[in-house]
Amino acid sequence: MTDRKLSLTDPDSGKTLELPVVAGTEGDPTMDITRLNRELGYFTYDPGYGTTANCKSDITFIDGTEGILRYRGYPIEQLAEKSSFVEVAYLLLYGELPTESELSGFDRDITYHTMVHEQVNTFIRGFHYDAHPMAILSGVIASMAGFYQHNLDVNDPEHRDLAAKRLIAKMPTVAAAAYRHYMGWPSAYPRNSLNYAERFLHMMFSVPAEAYEVNPVAAKALDLLFILHADHEQNASTSTVRLVGSTGANPYACVAAGIAALWGPAHGGANEAVLRMLNQIGDVSRVAEYMEKAKDKDDPFRLMGFGHRVYKNFDPRATIIRKACHEVLADLGQSDPLLYLAMELERIALEDDYFVERKLYPNVDFYSGIIYKALGIPTSMFTPMFAIGRTVGWVSQWLEQSASPHRIGRPRQIYTGKGERDYIAIDHRA
Ligand code: ACO
Repeated sequence: MTDRKLSLTDPDSGKTLELPVVAGTEGDPTMDITRLNRELGYFTYDPGYGTTANCKSDITFIDGTEGILRYRGYPIEQLAEKSSFVEVAYLLLYGELPTESELSGFDRDITYHTMVHEQVNTFIRGFHYDAHPMAILSGVIASMAGFYQHNLDVNDPEHRDLAAKRLIAKMPTVAAAAYRHYMGWPSAYPRNSLNYAERFLHMMFSVPAEAYEVNPVAAKALDLLFILHADHEQNASTSTVRLVGSTGANPYACVAAGIAALWGPAHGGANEAVLRMLNQIGDVSRVAEYMEKAKDKDDPFRLMGFGHRVYKNFDPRATIIRKACHEVLADLGQSDPLLYLAMELERIALEDDYFVERKLYPNVDFYSGIIYKALGIPTSMFTPMFAIGRTVGWVSQWLEQSASPHRIGRPRQIYTGKGERDYIAIDHRA
């Protein structure tokens, strides 16, 4: 809270309300409107919560105008270059970079919890073979509340910490199992000798018939993508986790709801949609045609992987991923025409008045799919990959909320339906 106040006067009643200004350590100042309805009788209208802060948080800072993203104060560029996903997970969960012994203890805990109950594999087998892996992921993660029901006291810090570690540890196991179900392959169990990203690749691609060597280039690229996706303050899926968590629901239910929110093409589903779009465009000669479609308000087509609610300059994650994309393809000795198509699309869009005026830049999802594709990860698994990284953000935000006093999330509405009217018997209805 600052000493500053903003005055709001209702011209009808003549009443004035002093609204305290709340300032964080960084970012725009915020008006505290919690007394508005009680004192002046008004609600605020903010569809999509574009100007509404729902919580205070110490975890992630974004400056959309400057293109800044920091986890616990550390710039994403530095973490992407110097850190590892498990270290970033520790940072997001506990607020500080770990010492060597803290990191090895945390890594040991995460590794220890990677296995799932064998009945989880049975549950996965119950899905239709071509069920989307996000459907499997959300269903299976929600079901875990039934496997760990003796450690679900959200008011117990130890239970919360255990659930957080279980979710981070098991998400890759379940995601890989969903893919194997589609492929008709037998279960692959987590290998504790491998690191987080290596273990996931091993669970995805190893088959009993032959030895599988994890490609270190692939593991490093994946680790980077997990870091870049780890948290992004109050995005749609994280806000969903917080909203569900505000009711006191268990962490598996909260994260399952987050997975469901992530699935949408306007959010995490965009990475899958980008690749479909690039395949649909097919060739640089057709970019102009699709640019026109994207600008046509009567056409539902949008340039997927472009635009962001917060970033109105550039998405710093997209800058890192674009560079990594070139490096990974070169290291793997691959060249993908889709990369050149994507670059051309980006170049043309960034010169187009429509995109320039609306400050639409490539977001994190624009190039990530090209890396996943180079690693052999199928398109339907792109959003589960995002979910694996984002699980850390979801549980960090859930832990933060659960550890401090909070109210149930409950937005209001502007009612635009019928006024009161009398019930009409069925034989009198037109
Ligand atoms: N292609 C074409 N036009 C676009 C695009 C796009 N990708 N994104 C925004 N616009 C236009 C809108 O039509 C609107 O134009 P108008 O002012 O003439 O009406 C203007 O830009 C502002 O767009 P909004 O939809 O109001 O922006 P909002 O903040 O609500 O949406 C979103 C942000 C959902 C990301 C949007 O840009 C979009 O749909 N992008 C494509 C999907 C995507 O890439 N999602 C991933 C986001 S990142 C993430 O979640 C990981």
